[in-house]
Amino acid sequence: MRHAYTTTIETPRLILRRFEITDAADMFYNWASDSAVTRYLSWSPHVNPEESAGLLQRWVAEYEKPENYHWGIVPKEGRRVFGSIGVVNMSEHDLRCEVGYCIGRALWGRGLTTEALMAAIWYLFEYTDFNRIQARHDVRNIGSGRVMQKAGMTCEGTLRQHSLNRSDGTMADMNICAILRSEYEARI
Ligand SMILES: CC(C)(COP(=O)(O)OP(=O)(O)OC[C@H]1O[C@@H](n2cnc3c(N)ncnc32)[C@H](O)[C@@H]1OP(=O)(O)O)[C@@H](O)C(=O)NCCC(=O)NCCS
Repeated sequence: MRHAYTTTIETPRLILRRFEITDAADMFYNWASDSAVTRYLSWSPHVNPEESAGLLQRWVAEYEKPENYHWGIVPKEGRRVFGSIGVVNMSEHDLRCEVGYCIGRALWGRGLTTEALMAAIWYLFEYTDFNRIQARHDVRNIGSGRVMQKAGMTCEGTLRQHSLNRSDGTMADMNICAILRSEYEARI
């Protein structure tokens, strides 16, 4: 299938760009060390900037492969990287991928993640052959469900006790949402 690498996307308020190793401190201090950010995520807060640097080293190495999509979310106002969005898994056979995202708490509630998700959906449908882009969120993470809905995804159902939540030790119910290529094309 057709892939497109991670290349820069510009939206009215954001630049989505490749991470650099030098983003480690911003990643750590702006979002990755914050337990409020990771509350409903599958990973625990980073314990130091070196942990963020280690993750970035992996992502930067993966940019060589066209099937890797890891964008840093950089608000034009401020110019520092404040979150991430990317493809967290895929099935090429099924032309399907799953996206994940997070943004620093200081910028919650401004519509920025919705803007980033809409841009990622645009890029993936325009430059790759994916037919379905999906995302999952803990049912308690209402804001994330709203982001998916605002970006044009349809909530398809609840995966009961799907994932162990590391923050509170519960087996979390997850909503699964998706947008199909046919739905995207009907909108443009
Ligand atoms: C969830 C998250 C991505 C939302 O990012 P954001 O930039 O604040 O999202 P937006 O501003 O684009 O949209 C959020 C929407 O959810 C709504 N919302 C947020 N919290 C809510 C709540 N507790 N109850 C009801 N609505 C809520 C906002 O009002 C807004 O909707 P509106 O535009 O209709 O008013 C962000 O909080 C985050 O990164 N959280 C930590 C990581 C995470 O959970 N990632 C997603 C994993 S699935």
